Amino acid sequence: MTNGFPPGFAWGAATASYQVEGAVGTDGRGPSIWDTFAHTPGRIADGTNGDVADDHYRLFAEDIRLLADLGLTAYRFSISWSRIIPAGSGVTNPAGLTFYRRLAEACLENGVTPYATLYHWDLPQPLEDAGGWLVRDTAERFRDYAAITHAGLSDVIKHWMTLNEPWCSAFLGYGNGEHAPGRTEGTDALKAVHHLLLGHGLALEAIRSDEGTYGIALNPAPIHAASDSAADLDAARRIDGLRNRMFLDPLLAAKYPADVLEDTGLTDWFAAQEADLPLIGAPLDFIGVNYYCPTTVAAPEGPISSPGRPSTQPGSEKVVAVDTGLPRTQMGWPIQATGLRDILVTINKLAPDLPLYVTENGAAYLDEVTADGTVEDDERQAYLEQHIAVCRDLVSEGFPLKGYFAWSLMDNFEWAWGYSRRFGIVYVDYATQQRIVKKSGRWLKDFLTT
Ligand code: FCB
Repeated sequence: MTNGFPPGFAWGAATASYQVEGAVGTDGRGPSIWDTFAHTPGRIADGTNGDVADDHYRLFAEDIRLLADLGLTAYRFSISWSRIIPAGSGVTNPAGLTFYRRLAEACLENGVTPYATLYHWDLPQPLEDAGGWLVRDTAERFRDYAAITHAGLSDVIKHWMTLNEPWCSAFLGYGNGEHAPGRTEGTDALKAVHHLLLGHGLALEAIRSDEGTYGIALNPAPIHAASDSAADLDAARRIDGLRNRMFLDPLLAAKYPADVLEDTGLTDWFAAQEADLPLIGAPLDFIGVNYYCPTTVAAPEGPISSPGRPSTQPGSEKVVAVDTGLPRTQMGWPIQATGLRDILVTINKLAPDLPLYVTENGAAYLDEVTADGTVEDDERQAYLEQHIAVCRDLVSEGFPLKGYFAWSLMDNFEWAWGYSRRFGIVYVDYATQQRIVKKSGRWLKDFLTT
């Protein structure tokens, strides 16, 4: 036992291709929806893009050495579909496979186990032009890409996640348009959910083997009602449905939640997709949980301020998030470590033997480099300590939690926020690409190595 955790518990940090790699035009990579979106004026808060990001494409070997030096034994990264198959379908680019082979080998040389995510939101632009996740064909192209990538790399990568947070892909990408491709399609965003999950199922069927473990990373969260009023309880039911049950039910029980389909008027559309459910609900080796915060919701009486505005909660636009007075991070996300326990326990009840990982957990704060060249991020350290303590308690109770990944290894391109939100346990000076281990990273190293 190290600090209350068993040997073999995976201690890692996570990143995602578009957020860290840069080198967007290098070695045959094709354009993704995030290239297009970030280069569209007004889409990114600070007007930046991922063209250079952390230059991880060139600096990965140093970054992995740094990760290993922190005492971490696992690295969760994502693979850019546009590097492997630049047009999304058709010709494979060997240089793309070579890059991820080198990255995985650099992990292994440093005693770090690679955990790869096949899709962390960067859809090849030609596939978006052909309809994106609103069309079924994209799921089939994802299967092809997954099969090629797995065949090329499964000797060096043993742990695979199909999708990262399909909730975000569907409801931010096609719901409120805050993320690429920036579309606002109302309840059609639920069709994207189905095609994403179908893509997951098709990919899993194509790549699963006894040699590795295969799962998916979701962002479920505890949803609380602001009061016991019937309206607030109904609001919580709706948001829990969209956020959690719309993903957990098909993946773990091969069914969609009937109430959500009814709320969104999509009962008939989903009935026509029923034949896909066995594939979507095929057994998983694990679920990855990305946890940041809980949500408390209410259904205010009277009209909402701007009815019909693009929403992340189609069919339940009236529901609002409520401030319960918890302290917040720079993102405005309330801090409640017990929420991590709550959501892990919820999933465990649905699938008692299924191994779970925390595949992302962390916090953004305004970090500054001191005159001594250090970053004293006490608040982030406290956040990590509290959430890791929840994991330790669960593990000591015999709960099947197999690993914890901090988001993120290093500061990076935080999607619609650009570089204005730092989540790293390592600070990145974007002008020089210098890395500085923050106090939270130094604390984690102490925790893991002493
Ligand atoms: C998650 C994303 C990750 C990062 C964190 C802060 O939703 O998976 O890429 O942006 O939030």
